[in-house]
Amino acid sequence: VGIRVNPDVTATTHPYTQTGGKGMKFGVPLDEAVAVARGIRDTPGLVLAGVGMHIGSQIGSPDPYAAGAAKLATLVGEIRAAGIDTLAGIDVGGGLGIAYTSAEQALDPFAFARALVPLHQRTGLPLLIEPGRFFVGNAGVLLTRVLYRKTSGGRTILVADAAMSDLLRPSLYRAHHPVWAPGHAPGTPEEVVDLVGPVCESGDFLALDRTLPRVEPGAVLAVGGAGAYGFTMSSQYNSRPRAAEVLTDGGRWAVTRTRETVDDLMRGETADPVWR
Ligand SMILES: Cc1ncc(COP(=O)(O)O)c(C=O)c1O
Repeated sequence: VGIRVNPDVTATTHPYTQTGGKGMKFGVPLDEAVAVARGIRDTPGLVLAGVGMHIGSQIGSPDPYAAGAAKLATLVGEIRAAGIDTLAGIDVGGGLGIAYTSAEQALDPFAFARALVPLHQRTGLPLLIEPGRFFVGNAGVLLTRVLYRKTSGGRTILVADAAMSDLLRPSLYRAHHPVWAPGHAPGTPEEVVDLVGPVCESGDFLALDRTLPRVEPGAVLAVGGAGAYGFTMSSQYNSRPRAAEVLTDGGRWAVTRTRETVDDLMRGETADPVWR
């Protein structure tokens, strides 16, 4: 087994995706880790194979990784000093940030590596990484059709058929996802819009204050950066069947998950409960 420690490192990212700080729910506190390691050693059938951390998600700087790595290196020394020599690797977690906008910069993988190499040098152990978003975040696009336009209080609102139930990140983290209007005629005048879904709360939006070419009901919009924490965080909230997933490869495409139906919403429900 491995011990995920809480290295008491807080990365600059949305508070909801910080996971490495003291008082957060994740990991074994650093000052308890050696005692936990001893407990593992003394438990028949268990071998302490590694220690690890995961300090958060969408992290743009290598610095918190370096800070966490220094603490893990010290911990490995303490575990070895306690006579435990079974460590086979160190898991440094994921969280490598990607660029959702052209103004943002993804975490430089070389800077990430440079932050972690000293951990390998100090311990001699192989390092494991768990990047999720970095691989797939910008590989996914959510396509949505504009249902209608309205104005309210001077704002132009596009109501689309996708909602917070399809892409939760804007509602949950106020995350910025790029929106494109593919296929609009060149020279179409631009306007500032809020792109919202049809779900019953004001927190249901995909993009606010966004400059887009004017689009009419029926137009398809593309919301970028939806490949990570997109479908996987989607839900059937508001009795909305979940979207289809389509894989593309050059000019080829294939449905890899069929669109849900109303029957899917009811699956598993019964009108005839067995009381116990
Ligand atoms: C333990 C652990 N490892 C890796 C990840 C992946 O994070 P990301 O997709 O930001 O790289 C997560 C995400 O929550 C996680 O909890």
